[in-house]
Amino acid sequence: MNCAKNAPLPPKLTPNLGLKSRNTFGLEVNAERAFEISDPAQLPALFKEINEKHWSWRVLGGGSNVILPPNLDGATLLMNIMGQEVIREDEGNTYLAVGAGVNWHDLVAWTLHKQLLGLENLALIPGTVGAAPIQNIGAYGVEITQYIDGVEVFDSKTNTFITFSNEDCQFAYRDSFFKRNPNRFIVIKVIFKLPKAWQARVHYADLANFFSEISNSKPSAQEIFDAVCQIRTKKLPDPKVIGNAGSFFQNPVLGEDQYEQLLQKFPNVVSYPDADGQCKLAAGWLIDQCGFKGQRVGEVGVYEKQALVIVNHGNATAADILSLAKTIQDSVQEKFGVTLDIEPNIL
Ligand code: EPU
Repeated sequence: MNCAKNAPLPPKLTPNLGLKSRNTFGLEVNAERAFEISDPAQLPALFKEINEKHWSWRVLGGGSNVILPPNLDGATLLMNIMGQEVIREDEGNTYLAVGAGVNWHDLVAWTLHKQLLGLENLALIPGTVGAAPIQNIGAYGVEITQYIDGVEVFDSKTNTFITFSNEDCQFAYRDSFFKRNPNRFIVIKVIFKLPKAWQARVHYADLANFFSEISNSKPSAQEIFDAVCQIRTKKLPDPKVIGNAGSFFQNPVLGEDQYEQLLQKFPNVVSYPDADGQCKLAAGWLIDQCGFKGQRVGEVGVYEKQALVIVNHGNATAADILSLAKTIQDSVQEKFGVTLDIEPNIL
């Protein structure tokens, strides 16, 4: 009997694919060769070809945290590995395995529907599950590291599959081992660990205000989910209406001394204290104070309701975006002596 496993179909290849609708900035981008990856087993043969032909390559998930150049040569991998299931349970936790191509917000909604609680604060974050661990997505007092048990990846260097434990991922604020070691690992599946004991987290100012205004001191997970959706919809521009990549800069983290000095000069600086004595500044406030909110320079601008977001007014290019970003960085540096780091990945 022949027990050999059927080889997967090769990934679907589209030459010269336009990516305007696949990056939330809405930039005009041509991908020389777009490969749709629907099965991890397609990766070893594809990477054999990529290496033999010396193609450059990159992976695109939801395209919500990238700044793409007009032309992507070589191979562009469109991540489409689907599937979400409960794989096991122990006394304290439920474990889920989720394909990298699953839409993040759909996963959050699905978990709540299944009474698996914990991800509600992270509702409406754009992008895919595979992208979530790369920058350790976070919002409203929760970061995804708290719920990741492990990450399954394809290692393009050794052509093998490996599993990273949460510790191996070296998660930090908007950062991970994967982000610091780009162009090697491809996330194929994320294993989530959701504790059965649930507690509401509504300490973050926007959420706390929301529930105090409606006098709800014990919101359910579903109510938190709905509140986060409302707050985000009000504050952040919808990429379908105006191109953007969410927060364009990270909130800078200062040591105690530097923070004290800044506070002397600017007593109303908006900041969040950190557990280890450091202080995270609200980049949006710094940019707002420099007068950029609502400003437009040609095809790009700073969103009128949130200075942390750069928007594409129609026909912007990566160069336009980066040029405005540099102007903002220089201005914040000059006024506050603080360096702003760009959050999305620049390809
Ligand atoms: N502020 C201003 N002017 C502005 C914007 C902000 O003065 O134009 C001040 C306000 O006082 C506000 C404070 O800055 O209270 C903080 O602003 P906000 O809550 O709007 O943003 P944030 O807390 O710095 C972070 C994440 C968001 C996430 C929210 C909610 C970063 C870089 N951004 O923003 O993430 O949704 O918290 O938790 O950490 C994203 O990554 O794309 C993103 C949207």
